[in-house]
Parts: sequence; C-alpha cells; structure tokens
Amino acid sequence: MAGLFETTLVICAVIFLIVATAVVYNVWRFRSCGETSEPRQSHGYKKLEIAWTAIPAAIVLVLLIMTASVMSKTVPDSDPPPKADLTIIAHQWWWEARYAASGARAANEIHIPVGKRWVVQLLSADVIHDFWAPSLGPKMDIVPGHPNCIWVEADQPGEYMGACAEFCGAQHAWMRFTVVAQPEADFNAWQQRQLQPIATNSTAVAGRRVFEQFVCANCHSINGLSTNATAGPDLTHLGGRQTIGAGVISNSFDNLVRWLKDPQAIKPSCLMPSFNLTDQQAGQLALFLEGSP
Ligand code: CUA
Repeated sequence: MAGLFETTLVICAVIFLIVATAVVYNVWRFRSCGETSEPRQSHGYKKLEIAWTAIPAAIVLVLLIMTASVMSKTVPDSDPPPKADLTIIAHQWWWEARYAASGARAANEIHIPVGKRWVVQLLSADVIHDFWAPSLGPKMDIVPGHPNCIWVEADQPGEYMGACAEFCGAQHAWMRFTVVAQPEADFNAWQQRQLQPIATNSTAVAGRRVFEQFVCANCHSINGLSTNATAGPDLTHLGGRQTIGAGVISNSFDNLVRWLKDPQAIKPSCLMPSFNLTDQQAGQLALFLEGSP
C-alpha cells in the first residue's frame, strides 16, 4: 500500500513539474510586448489534442490497474467468509478483542504475533465504527449486522496506534486502541496470562466485595468471578493495560480511583455510571482490579 502511494506520488509530482514548467514558460514567452492589435488566432491542432487526451487516459489506466491489484491484496475474500484469527467488537466507546484459537479476551490493547497475517473479523455492538490502525492495514467500517474482514499484519515488533475513524457519538475521539505486535513466544505467554483468573490475595478481598456489592458484573466480566457480561470491558487483567477508558487517561492506581469515583467527569456520556463510591470503596476496588497484570 505504501508502495502504491509512493508510485502515485512520483507520477503526480512529474506531471505537476511538467505542467508548472509549461505554464511559467508560456506566461514568460508570450507576455505582452506592448502590441495594440489582436494577436494571430489559430484554431485546433489535432495531434496535440489527441496527445493530451491519450496520455492522461493512459496514466489513469495505469493507476487504476495498480490500485485494483493492491486492493485485492488488502482485504480477504469474503465469499466464503474466512476463518477469523481474531474478532474485534466495537462498542461505544471501546474495543473488545476475542482470540479464536485460545479463547482469550482483551480490551483496547490488541496483541498480535509479529510477522503473521491475521484475519480480523470486525463486528459492532451498537452503531457504525471504523477500525483504523494506519501502520498495519487498511481502514474498515464496522457496520452493525454486517461482519467485515481485514488482514492485519506487523512486520516489526512494537506498539502501533489505532483509532475509531467513523463518528460514533460523544466519545468517538476517545475510542483509541493499541496494537502490540510481539514475537510468537511473548504473544503466547500474553494470551496464557489473559486466560488466568483474577488474583484473589488478601489485599483484593475487600475490593472484590465492592465489585459484588455494586453488581459491576452486570457489565464487566472477570475470569474466575463472572464471565458473561460484555457491555463493558473485561476487567480481569486491567492492571496490565496502559490506559483506562480507551485512551482517555493513563492507567495508574490514582487515575483508576478517580475513574471509579466519577467516570462521567473523565469521559462524559460513557456508558459507565457514577456510583458515588467512597474514597475507601474506590481504593479497595482499584486494588482488586489492578492486582492482576
Ligand atoms: Cu467508534 Cu468512532
């Protein structure tokens, strides 16, 4: 894709240079020399007219062929639908990731093995969103009731930024995600970690009680506690994520406490209500949630 862009850019730059040079030359060459009578008029020059029709048509045809051949390589054939390695479900306003082979789940931080071309299925839980990780693949709309597929591939390990690229409501701007491309072994270790239940050591007990008391499980899954809710992100390994609220604040203990006390102050209109937790309850809950990286 980058190659296509560069080739197109070079062709357009050459055309621009030729046209600009011709304009400047003609403006100078045929400038007014103080004559008062009208210059000699000429009408039509067939060879030139054929040339300036045929050459641009040929250039456009070449660009069309190049574009069509690249397009066929950016999106998998949807008939029959390919088996997806990863399903991404867009929600207002966060990203859910489900890994087909392992059953692992994640939110807003999508890990993939480096050097593998993955088939990613895109689903929406509510409105139209658009999955866009510019360095890794094409941009694709996510339409409710109409599964789309793309390939996502990273040649180099690293973190790649992504965002929702279709206006989807008040917090469209805070629907960010990170794709973490890792060597196969690291990726598998990460997947295994996601499958582990949440740690329930002694520091977590009080927070776990707050989680149950406020019925957070209505919206959030936690491995080992409740696993059916998908209205909000799976929180089992929240501690391992870099941000809270799909990019809106960095993930630290203090920020998580702030978020738990009043998510609406940080991400207005997000679907998580403010439960008016006390400082103590929010602190306990944050300890419980941050405990499992
Ligand atoms: Cu989702 Cu914009």
